[in-house]
Amino acid sequence: MSNRVEIFDTTLRDGEQSPGMSMHQHEKIRMARQLERLGVNTIEAGFPIASEQEFEAVRRVAGEIKACRVAALARALPTDIERAAQALEHAEKPTLHTFIASSDIHLKDKLRMTRQQVLEAAHNAVTLAKQLVPPRVEFSAEDATRSDWDFLVALTKVAIEAGADIINLPDTVGYTTPGEIKEMFEYVIGKTKNVPGAERVIFSSHNHNDLGLAVANALAAAAGGARQVECTVSGIGERAGNTSLEEFVMALRVRQDSYPFETDVVTTEIVPSSTLLSKITGMAIPYNKPIVGRNAFAHESGIHQHGVIANARTYEIMTPDSVGLHKSQLVLGKHSGRAGLAKRCEELGYKLSADDLQKLYEKFIDLTAKKKEVYDEDLVMLIVSAYDEEFQAYQLDQVRISGGVPALAYVKVIKGDQPVAETATGDGPVDAAFRAVEKIVNVVGRLEQFEIRATTPGKEALGEAYVTVNFDGKDYRGKGADTDIIVAAVKAYMDAANMYIALKGTMQQGAAAV
Ligand code: KIV
Ligand code: ZN
Repeated sequence: MSNRVEIFDTTLRDGEQSPGMSMHQHEKIRMARQLERLGVNTIEAGFPIASEQEFEAVRRVAGEIKACRVAALARALPTDIERAAQALEHAEKPTLHTFIASSDIHLKDKLRMTRQQVLEAAHNAVTLAKQLVPPRVEFSAEDATRSDWDFLVALTKVAIEAGADIINLPDTVGYTTPGEIKEMFEYVIGKTKNVPGAERVIFSSHNHNDLGLAVANALAAAAGGARQVECTVSGIGERAGNTSLEEFVMALRVRQDSYPFETDVVTTEIVPSSTLLSKITGMAIPYNKPIVGRNAFAHESGIHQHGVIANARTYEIMTPDSVGLHKSQLVLGKHSGRAGLAKRCEELGYKLSADDLQKLYEKFIDLTAKKKEVYDEDLVMLIVSAYDEEFQAYQLDQVRISGGVPALAYVKVIKGDQPVAETATGDGPVDAAFRAVEKIVNVVGRLEQFEIRATTPGKEALGEAYVTVNFDGKDYRGKGADTDIIVAAVKAYMDAANMYIALKGTMQQGAAAV
């Protein structure tokens, strides 16, 4: 058996479906390009039946990404599978991923199906998927780790016979333990090894982190024979998240003695990937997060500092450089031209079209008027907050605040070519400005979360604002950046409102989340 473990990245599907993590199409594409640089083998781009936007996002990622496989998720239903296959039409290396639950509790209380019916549905789903997307079909037995192992064996046989190339046995609810999952893989692989077609099949492990065991379980699954591991950048995902890509990959790298497996991941792209995801979603990376947290390589105690100065390996089991953590670089000033800007963007992994570069250049010049020195982080923030025009019903033009209690805000936006302005009062400047935005877009939201942080140290730093706003019972995230934090906050609120307007009415009942 090969010692290569394929990385199936589901940041854009399982990760994105967790509350408040939804991404615009252009953000998914941006993240997908970074995942390609990171060297994952498969990018699961989404669940196309969920909505028109989701379908389009998968279709665009599939058309753009060439180096990795692009996967689309579908329930074991013909409508889902046909839609996913359509979204993958232009993918160079498509994977159709279909799933059905296998545990008794899911069969009885969710699907209301017998085991025999599930076997038939799996057979039909994989057969159709293989007809529509011959290069690669993945079959997942949802809630595998709480399923009867002999039923898993039966389901796996059916899926292999119908043409599945990948058999995924997920720990959907984060319930299993390392010892148990290793045995489960050994059992199912052993019992299905003589099924015709089994020689081409790769077993896959997909773990959730409800007990904090997702990475440990993924490592154990690899020891038990899994040769694909499904993970997300920074471990984002349903509830407590999925297997964290960076932790799994670096555990293999650092502990080759215990886990002699290899991946194709370019580890120096780990920190840039995690940073980009954080800027896109607004999710702050906990300081103590392994590998990518701000303190992951910080040595506070005198004894540790002394040791690290003498020999970094006294307290470091891997180097910051090996995961792409470098000191923040001063990149550009106001005299840097378009060529300098383009070059730095390329070095950071962002290839921009002439149009996008022009837009970025204007923002950059604007920023240098307020801030003398522009750092890599500022540039990344400018790039990720550049808005996809097709989503942008309203563009912020101006914010003016008069102090006092109550505060008075004047907000002017551009809708199409038309300026629209409103004033509103509120408890403070942010409250007043948000109310003015609500008057403009004609919808009232409930602010669920509001964070402001500085992109870089220094008083003139760019302020990043992140909001979660509940419109019509659903949460939308928004982000904005500006040297004026009130303006950053209003941009973030507009961003969430624009997302709400763009997605309103496009979600299909019952298929929004898996
Ligand atoms: O957790 C899970 O079971 C899933 C499947 C759809 C693979 O995300
Ligand atoms: Zn999952």
